[in-house]
Amino acid sequence: MHKKINKILLTLIASIVFILTFSLTCGAKSNEEIKSFKTLEKGVLTVGTNATFPPFEFKDKDEDQEIKGFDVDLINKIAKKLNLKVNIVDMPFEGLLPALGNKIDLVIAGLTKTEEREKIVDFTKPYFYGKQSILTLKNVNIKQKEDLNNLTIATQIGTTANEFVKKLQEEELNNIKIKEYDEYDIMTQDLVRKRVDCVVLDDIVAKNQFNKHFPELNLTQGSVLNCPTENYCIALPKGNEKLLSSVDEILNDIINSKEYTELQEKYINIKLKSEENEETKSNNSIVNQFLTTLVEKERYKLYLKGITTTLVISVFAALLGFFLGIVLAVLKLTKNKNGKRSLIGKIANFYINIVRGTPILLQLLIMWLVVFKNFKNGVFVAIVAFGLNSAAYVAEIIRSGINSVGVGQKEAAESLGFGKFGVMFYIVLPQSIKNSIPSLCNEFISLIKETAIVGYVALNDLTRAAFSISAASYQTFMPLIIAALIYYIITKTISFILEKAMKRMN
Ligand code: ARG
Repeated sequence: MHKKINKILLTLIASIVFILTFSLTCGAKSNEEIKSFKTLEKGVLTVGTNATFPPFEFKDKDEDQEIKGFDVDLINKIAKKLNLKVNIVDMPFEGLLPALGNKIDLVIAGLTKTEEREKIVDFTKPYFYGKQSILTLKNVNIKQKEDLNNLTIATQIGTTANEFVKKLQEEELNNIKIKEYDEYDIMTQDLVRKRVDCVVLDDIVAKNQFNKHFPELNLTQGSVLNCPTENYCIALPKGNEKLLSSVDEILNDIINSKEYTELQEKYINIKLKSEENEETKSNNSIVNQFLTTLVEKERYKLYLKGITTTLVISVFAALLGFFLGIVLAVLKLTKNKNGKRSLIGKIANFYINIVRGTPILLQLLIMWLVVFKNFKNGVFVAIVAFGLNSAAYVAEIIRSGINSVGVGQKEAAESLGFGKFGVMFYIVLPQSIKNSIPSLCNEFISLIKETAIVGYVALNDLTRAAFSISAASYQTFMPLIIAALIYYIITKTISFILEKAMKRMN
């Protein structure tokens, strides 16, 4: 019987290893395919961007968060001439270049061509020129580089501004403090709240932010910093000469036509608010905040979508975690002939320890960026990551459940002619699962709350919805509180239902 269990377990492990290797090799293959114009054949160009960079790419708060901007129009024009449809994928800025060639075919993101970046991607000819500039509060004046010393400077993580300020801190002004952000909107809001002293960012975007927060802010041209002019280019995976030259050709045609001037008119030639001298008034009563957060532009729909994503991930991850957890628990308890923990038991134990001893965010990122590098479906990857994580916790719950089933029961069952295998699956496991139900319910509830980090892999869950609404409505309190409330209602309802069900069972 013992051998039989071992056989089953070995097969299980072998299949897991097989599935993992299979997905990895699949990935390698699709990488090759992209190089040989696979996406073009499918007729879809998957474009990566980071839609926090107005007017180049941003989510239109008036139109259901649709991604718009100079870059979006430009890439649509290019794709049209290549006879392709565009699929825009919004991701964290620092994730764009690593995703190039596996999750996305091309990056357009107000992206500056730099020597470092050129080592890993190919750039087209420039389609725009930018410079750095500085936003400060009205009372701070930057007249020369040295004025930055002792200030806390905000920059977007992974950008040229970020690199520039880091270099400045290392080489010249050691007392600069740097804060790194994911989004310009939050960065500028923190400036207005005096959490940082200034923001260094690309000039056109600075103008845009300045206009949003006028009249609190001061805009200083980056010339005081002696930053070089930056060339905005489109990035393509390295070594795809054919694609590069066709994109270059089309880009060139567009730049020399009136299409380009129209684009500039539409997005770039923005008047500064101070020039317009327009009054902005707003009514910020609680009721109004509530209406802006939920009702205006039907933003509640974003919450609804977010709730669905959160629940789908949680439920499927919980199921995966439950079954894998049972397997792990049984594995961990297997003994060898001397009555010591078997090799498989040790492996299971090792897995459980690693998973429980490392942050789930890192596990998720490893799944997204390494293991499932070539998978585009973030929901799937999140389910696997959370399922594998939850399994370790479920395993410990079930294991203590198994240990609490009395020896008497096991012996009684054995004397009734059940083999070891039978005892485990017909007698011990069902009872231990039953005893573990309260802890399993808690695990499920924790899982729901933990999924709040899936925004890192570009998923729009409930927490991300709150962020987007906050960015679109310039509110912070209401969008976040509402999301918290929704989480609370969901978890309370679920534990209520589970408790009721348990009473019934008893
Ligand atoms: N031009 C800068 C850079 O390449 C900033 C680009 C930021 N773009 C964005 N979509 N967030 O580093």
